[in-house]
Amino acid sequence: MKKWLILILGSALGALMLAGYAGYGKKAKVPPAPNGIAFPKGYLKWSVISVAHRRDNNTLRAILGNRKAVAAIKAGKINPWPDGTKLGKLVWKDSNLKNWPKATVPGKFVHAEFMFKDSKKYKRTYGWGFARWKGMAQKPYGKDANFSKECINCHRPVEYQDWVFTRPAVLPR
Ligand code: HEC
Repeated sequence: MKKWLILILGSALGALMLAGYAGYGKKAKVPPAPNGIAFPKGYLKWSVISVAHRRDNNTLRAILGNRKAVAAIKAGKINPWPDGTKLGKLVWKDSNLKNWPKATVPGKFVHAEFMFKDSKKYKRTYGWGFARWKGMAQKPYGKDANFSKECINCHRPVEYQDWVFTRPAVLPR
Protein backbone atom coordinates (compact mmCIF):
# COMPACT_ATOMS: atom_id res chain seq x y z
CA MET A 1 0.00 0.00 0.00
CA LYS A 2 2.69 2.44 1.07
CA LYS A 3 4.71 1.86 -2.11
CA TRP A 4 1.70 2.80 -4.21
CA LEU A 5 1.17 5.97 -2.24
CA ILE A 6 4.78 7.02 -2.71
CA LEU A 7 4.54 6.27 -6.43
CA ILE A 8 1.38 8.35 -6.82
CA LEU A 9 2.75 11.24 -4.79
CA GLY A 10 6.04 11.02 -6.69
CA SER A 11 4.43 11.23 -10.10
CA ALA A 12 2.14 14.05 -8.98
CA LEU A 13 5.20 16.00 -7.84
CA GLY A 14 6.97 15.23 -11.13
CA ALA A 15 3.99 16.47 -13.13
CA LEU A 16 3.88 19.67 -11.09
CA MET A 17 7.59 20.26 -11.64
CA LEU A 18 7.23 19.72 -15.40
CA ALA A 19 4.32 22.14 -15.54
CA GLY A 20 6.46 24.61 -13.64
CA TYR A 21 9.38 24.27 -16.04
CA ALA A 22 7.10 24.63 -19.06
CA GLY A 23 5.84 27.95 -17.71
CA TYR A 24 9.29 29.11 -16.66
CA GLY A 25 10.42 32.26 -18.42
CA LYS A 26 7.03 32.86 -19.99
CA LYS A 27 5.84 36.40 -19.41
CA ALA A 28 2.22 37.41 -19.02
CA LYS A 29 0.68 38.28 -22.38
CA VAL A 30 0.81 41.95 -23.35
CA PRO A 31 -2.77 43.22 -23.86
CA PRO A 32 -3.65 44.58 -27.34
CA ALA A 33 -3.83 48.32 -28.09
CA PRO A 34 -7.33 49.93 -27.79
CA ASN A 35 -7.68 49.71 -31.60
CA GLY A 36 -7.29 45.93 -31.42
CA ILE A 37 -3.69 45.75 -32.66
CA ALA A 38 -1.75 42.93 -31.03
CA PHE A 39 1.71 43.42 -29.53
CA PRO A 40 4.27 42.28 -32.14
CA LYS A 41 6.04 39.65 -30.07
CA GLY A 42 8.85 39.09 -32.57
CA TYR A 43 9.95 42.73 -32.75
CA LEU A 44 13.32 42.05 -31.12
CA LYS A 45 14.30 40.08 -34.22
CA TRP A 46 13.74 43.08 -36.51
CA SER A 47 16.66 45.17 -37.81
CA VAL A 48 17.76 48.58 -36.65
CA ILE A 49 17.15 50.95 -39.57
CA SER A 50 18.04 54.19 -37.78
CA VAL A 51 18.52 55.90 -34.44
CA ALA A 52 17.34 59.27 -33.17
CA HIS A 53 18.08 61.55 -30.27
CA ARG A 54 15.54 64.14 -29.13
CA ARG A 55 17.20 67.08 -27.47
CA ASP A 56 13.89 68.65 -26.38
CA ASN A 57 12.92 65.78 -24.08
CA ASN A 58 16.30 64.04 -23.73
CA THR A 59 15.42 60.65 -25.12
CA LEU A 60 17.21 58.14 -27.30
CA ARG A 61 15.36 56.15 -29.95
CA ALA A 62 16.10 53.02 -31.94
CA ILE A 63 14.00 52.68 -35.09
CA LEU A 64 13.39 49.10 -36.20
CA GLY A 65 12.03 47.53 -39.35
CA ASN A 66 10.91 43.98 -40.11
CA ARG A 67 12.27 41.98 -43.06
CA LYS A 68 9.73 43.49 -45.42
CA ALA A 69 10.85 46.98 -44.40
CA VAL A 70 14.54 46.13 -44.87
CA ALA A 71 13.84 44.63 -48.32
CA ALA A 72 11.94 47.79 -49.30
CA ILE A 73 14.85 49.96 -48.13
CA LYS A 74 17.34 47.89 -50.17
CA ALA A 75 15.08 48.16 -53.22
CA GLY A 76 14.71 51.90 -52.67
CA LYS A 77 10.93 51.51 -52.56
CA ILE A 78 9.75 53.22 -49.40
CA ASN A 79 7.30 55.76 -50.72
CA PRO A 80 4.87 54.19 -50.24
CA TRP A 81 6.18 51.45 -47.95
CA PRO A 82 4.84 48.03 -49.08
CA ASP A 83 2.00 46.28 -47.26
CA GLY A 84 3.43 44.04 -44.57
CA THR A 85 5.98 46.67 -43.49
CA LYS A 86 6.32 46.90 -39.73
CA LEU A 87 8.22 49.79 -38.16
CA GLY A 88 9.03 50.08 -34.49
CA LYS A 89 10.44 52.72 -32.24
CA LEU A 90 11.97 52.03 -28.84
CA VAL A 91 12.44 55.03 -26.56
CA TRP A 92 14.68 55.45 -23.52
CA LYS A 93 15.51 58.40 -21.30
CA ASP A 94 19.05 59.65 -21.80
CA SER A 95 21.61 58.36 -19.36
CA ASN A 96 25.39 58.71 -19.10
CA LEU A 97 27.73 55.81 -19.60
CA LYS A 98 29.18 55.08 -16.19
CA ASN A 99 32.80 54.84 -17.24
CA TRP A 100 32.62 57.53 -19.93
CA PRO A 101 29.99 60.07 -18.86
CA LYS A 102 30.18 62.04 -22.10
CA ALA A 103 28.59 59.10 -23.88
CA THR A 104 24.79 59.19 -23.88
CA VAL A 105 23.29 55.74 -23.52
CA PRO A 106 19.78 54.30 -22.96
CA GLY A 107 18.49 54.76 -19.41
CA LYS A 108 14.92 54.26 -18.20
CA PHE A 109 12.69 52.59 -20.79
CA VAL A 110 9.84 54.91 -21.87
CA HIS A 111 7.79 53.10 -24.51
CA ALA A 112 7.67 50.95 -27.62
CA GLU A 113 5.52 52.05 -30.52
CA PHE A 114 4.73 50.64 -33.91
CA MET A 115 3.32 51.33 -37.36
CA PHE A 116 1.94 48.40 -39.35
CA LYS A 117 1.37 48.96 -43.07
CA ASP A 118 -1.76 47.46 -44.62
CA SER A 119 -3.34 49.79 -47.13
CA LYS A 120 -6.68 47.92 -47.06
CA LYS A 121 -7.07 47.01 -43.41
CA TYR A 122 -5.95 50.42 -42.15
CA LYS A 123 -7.41 52.50 -44.96
CA ARG A 124 -9.12 54.84 -42.49
CA THR A 125 -5.80 55.68 -40.83
CA TYR A 126 -3.93 56.34 -44.09
CA GLY A 127 -2.79 52.74 -44.52
CA TRP A 128 -1.04 52.42 -41.16
CA GLY A 129 -2.09 50.73 -37.93
CA PHE A 130 -0.65 52.65 -34.98
CA ALA A 131 0.05 51.23 -31.53
CA ARG A 132 2.06 52.08 -28.44
CA TRP A 133 2.86 50.20 -25.23
CA LYS A 134 4.16 52.12 -22.26
CA GLY A 135 6.94 51.37 -19.82
CA MET A 136 8.38 48.12 -18.61
CA ALA A 137 4.82 46.96 -17.87
CA GLN A 138 4.01 47.42 -21.59
CA LYS A 139 0.67 49.02 -20.83
CA PRO A 140 -1.40 49.71 -23.97
CA TYR A 141 -1.56 53.44 -24.67
CA GLY A 142 -4.81 55.28 -25.42
CA LYS A 143 -8.29 55.58 -23.89
CA ASP A 144 -10.07 54.22 -26.96
CA ALA A 145 -9.45 53.40 -30.61
CA ASN A 146 -9.29 57.12 -31.44
CA PHE A 147 -5.86 57.50 -29.87
CA SER A 148 -4.27 57.05 -33.29
CA LYS A 149 -5.57 60.51 -34.25
CA GLU A 150 -2.86 61.88 -31.99
CA CYS A 151 -0.21 59.83 -33.80
CA ILE A 152 -1.54 60.86 -37.22
CA ASN A 153 -1.74 64.57 -36.36
CA CYS A 154 1.89 64.70 -35.33
CA HIS A 155 3.04 62.59 -38.29
CA ARG A 156 1.11 64.83 -40.74
CA PRO A 157 4.18 66.89 -41.80
CA VAL A 158 5.53 63.68 -43.37
CA GLU A 159 2.31 62.66 -45.13
CA TYR A 160 4.24 63.19 -48.39
CA GLN A 161 6.65 60.39 -47.44
CA ASP A 162 3.93 57.91 -46.45
CA TRP A 163 3.58 59.29 -42.89
CA VAL A 164 7.05 58.10 -41.86
CA PHE A 165 9.61 60.52 -40.42
CA THR A 166 12.60 58.18 -40.38
CA ARG A 167 14.92 58.04 -43.35
CA PRO A 168 16.95 54.82 -43.15
CA ALA A 169 20.46 55.53 -41.85
CA VAL A 170 23.24 55.59 -44.44
CA LEU A 171 25.31 52.40 -44.41
CA PRO A 172 28.23 51.17 -46.53
CA ARG A 173 27.10 48.36 -48.79
C1 HEC B 1 4.60 64.86 -30.86
C2 HEC B 1 4.68 64.28 -32.18
C3 HEC B 1 4.47 62.79 -32.33
C4 HEC B 1 3.42 62.03 -31.87
C5 HEC B 1 2.24 62.46 -31.03
C6 HEC B 1 3.67 60.69 -32.34
N1 HEC B 1 4.82 60.63 -33.07
FE1 HEC B 1 5.66 58.97 -33.89
N2 HEC B 1 7.29 60.05 -34.42
C7 HEC B 1 7.44 61.41 -34.25
C8 HEC B 1 8.76 61.82 -34.76
C9 HEC B 1 9.29 63.24 -34.78
C10 HEC B 1 9.38 60.65 -35.21
C11 HEC B 1 10.77 60.52 -35.82
C12 HEC B 1 11.87 60.95 -34.88
C13 HEC B 1 11.89 60.16 -33.62
O1 HEC B 1 12.31 59.03 -33.66
O2 HEC B 1 11.48 60.65 -32.57
C14 HEC B 1 8.43 59.57 -34.99
C15 HEC B 1 8.66 58.26 -35.36
C16 HEC B 1 7.77 57.23 -35.17
C17 HEC B 1 8.01 55.87 -35.60
C18 HEC B 1 9.20 55.38 -36.43
C19 HEC B 1 8.85 55.57 -37.91
C20 HEC B 1 8.85 57.05 -38.31
O3 HEC B 1 7.77 57.58 -38.66
O4 HEC B 1 9.92 57.66 -38.26
C21 HEC B 1 6.93 55.14 -35.21
C22 HEC B 1 6.72 53.66 -35.42
C23 HEC B 1 6.02 56.04 -34.54
N3 HEC B 1 6.56 57.30 -34.54
C24 HEC B 1 4.80 55.65 -34.00
C25 HEC B 1 3.93 56.52 -33.38
C26 HEC B 1 2.68 56.13 -32.75
C27 HEC B 1 2.14 54.73 -32.72
C28 HEC B 1 2.14 57.24 -32.21
C29 HEC B 1 0.84 57.40 -31.44
C30 HEC B 1 0.62 56.52 -30.31
C31 HEC B 1 3.04 58.34 -32.49
N4 HEC B 1 4.10 57.87 -33.21
C32 HEC B 1 2.83 59.63 -32.08
C33 HEC B 1 6.54 62.27 -33.71
C34 HEC B 1 5.36 61.90 -33.08
